[in-house]
Amino acid sequence: MKLILIGFMGSGKTTVSQLLGQQLNEQVLDLDREIERQSHQTIPQIFAQSGEQGFRQLEHDVLKQSMDFEGILATGGGTPLREDNLQLLRHAGVPVILLAASPEETHRRLQQQNNRPLGNKLDVDGIRQLQHERQPFYDRCADLRIVTDHLTPTEIAQQIVKYLQK
Ligand code: S3P
Repeated sequence: MKLILIGFMGSGKTTVSQLLGQQLNEQVLDLDREIERQSHQTIPQIFAQSGEQGFRQLEHDVLKQSMDFEGILATGGGTPLREDNLQLLRHAGVPVILLAASPEETHRRLQQQNNRPLGNKLDVDGIRQLQHERQPFYDRCADLRIVTDHLTPTEIAQQIVKYLQK
């Protein structure tokens, strides 16, 4: 692994990881896409069939398998919530970058897609509350936090590249 991106739903992990992959000439592994590939189901289908608990177990299994991956890993918004996942992320020995966005901006971004069983039902206050609950987990593994509200994906990627060069 070269780099791990964490952060709430809609914080830009997938987009930024793709850009970074191109710029740094690294492979990218998106944990949600890998879960879908291995389970032959979409994330909404997994939640509908196995519930959040079933999804979290799959997420853990795929994360564990992915720790040897040589490249950039984009996690899911809930990945750092499990203690065993958090330990895997912390001990990967690579920079862990937290992407953050305000509840208002997150809400705007989540409304543009309909593929997040936990995110699509939330209003701005619900997002604020869930972000608040998750913050301690994110903080425990992040080496750098970037607030993305007023940044383009290219600018975010530039900040990360600069950080890596330090
Ligand atoms: C989740 C975030 C999603 C996906 C699943 C659960 C969460 O990933 O793993 O829907 O609990 O925050 P993204 O952060 O890529 O949307």
